[in-house]
Amino acid sequence: MSGTHDFVVVANRLPVDIQNDVDGERTWTRSPGGLVTALAPIMRAKGGAWVGWSGAADTTIEPFEADDMWLAPVPLSAKEIATYYEGFSNATLWPLYHDVIADPEYHRVWWNAYLEVNRRFAEAAAVNAAEHATVWVHDYQLQLVPQMLRRLRPDVRIGFFNHIPFPPVELFGQLPWRRQVIEGLLGADLVGFQRTGDAANFLRAVRRFTSYGTRGQVITIGKHWTRPERHVRAATFPISIDSAQLDELARTEAVEKRAAEIRSELGDPDVLLLGVDRLDYTKGIRHRIKAFGELVAEKKLTVPAAALVQVASPSREQVDEYKTLRHEVEVMVGNLNGEHGSLGRAAIYYMHHSYPQEEMAALYRAADVMLVTALRDGMNLVAKEYVAARSDLGGVLVLSEFAGAADEMSQALLVNPHDIEGMKSVIMRAATMDPREGRRRMRALRKRVLEHDVAHWANSFLSVLEAVPQRTSHV
Ligand code: G6P
Repeated sequence: MSGTHDFVVVANRLPVDIQNDVDGERTWTRSPGGLVTALAPIMRAKGGAWVGWSGAADTTIEPFEADDMWLAPVPLSAKEIATYYEGFSNATLWPLYHDVIADPEYHRVWWNAYLEVNRRFAEAAAVNAAEHATVWVHDYQLQLVPQMLRRLRPDVRIGFFNHIPFPPVELFGQLPWRRQVIEGLLGADLVGFQRTGDAANFLRAVRRFTSYGTRGQVITIGKHWTRPERHVRAATFPISIDSAQLDELARTEAVEKRAAEIRSELGDPDVLLLGVDRLDYTKGIRHRIKAFGELVAEKKLTVPAAALVQVASPSREQVDEYKTLRHEVEVMVGNLNGEHGSLGRAAIYYMHHSYPQEEMAALYRAADVMLVTALRDGMNLVAKEYVAARSDLGGVLVLSEFAGAADEMSQALLVNPHDIEGMKSVIMRAATMDPREGRRRMRALRKRVLEHDVAHWANSFLSVLEAVPQRTSHV
């Protein structure tokens, strides 16, 4: 089984949103997000294919071309959405890989669905990949695909990138299927991580749960005389955004005008604070609201001179922990506004929906203080977006040390979001920072983010992967 594409991306989601018109016509729009922006030029140049799920249940969609990419939809039944996606991916792996902030659940039926769906993705990749193609598999939903694909197609080069943290071995060890997951990942030639700490955790897990030898970042597989050796490299490639594009957008007159409008709609506060997240318990939204609420209660910040805008886009709404979180956040927002708001003026402006990129750019441009207070985060691209949008060198970034972005963005004000008092003083420091210091910090942050954009990320990963010697089809 082999196809015609020299480059194949395999990700849980397709890079487009598919809509069905009333007359049954199918249309699509490119979904927002850095991954597709980074990969689209490479896909175009190499005639690439993208294997992924459309987001709909029980729907078989024939492969089609969109945006110069060949899209190969993988169907999921309603039951598989509950067991593979909401279950094993988002109620087992997601909390386990994010420091067990929520309790991971271990269910054998969920694991079986994960196996089954990973097999389906591996088969779809095998069908689309040309001989000696490069296949790039993404994220925690598909950790078994590298090994499954290697069995089907020993000729292809396989890369895997983990977008979320890789947990310490003491937590990873809870997973009843830990060895299978490690073996799944080791089917790749290159396994990429966001932070050096993630790669180190993975290498420790390999040493703990397999008998393969490791030397530095290289793992040697199959050291038996009947099988040739194979090497797997584990390395760090911090992901980024299309910084130049956002920089340009944020400088436009329309965005500047909208930023000013937002401030005036909010009553021209002295200090406008901003949070932008998927509504996820890893993002530290409750901790942030608590710190802000205490500052208001203690009159260190007053309403309406200070206001917090919190954009929380809906996410994984069928998963229990997300339902609970939504309820808790909404109760906190209600309490705070009930206590400290007045007619026409709130302490927190909470929005449970997402916005187009222009509006986000305007919000970034309008905010004096950006609060990124994740309890654990693979990278956090909002931190990078804020910086890319601030060509005026205004604004201060408060950044959790538990977000991958902290490794690269040391000029931000780093916080431990569990330390509410500490976070309160950092917020006050950000709110009252001397503009000269703010500009100096922002300039350094922007240099990093503009130089290390998402194209740089994709190219560095692919150049390491493509340096792997080509194999024959018969190994
Ligand atoms: C994180 C994950 C992605 C995922 C995204 C949105 O960024 O790393 O793999 O696609 O969240 O989550 P969803 O469950 O809606 O795909």
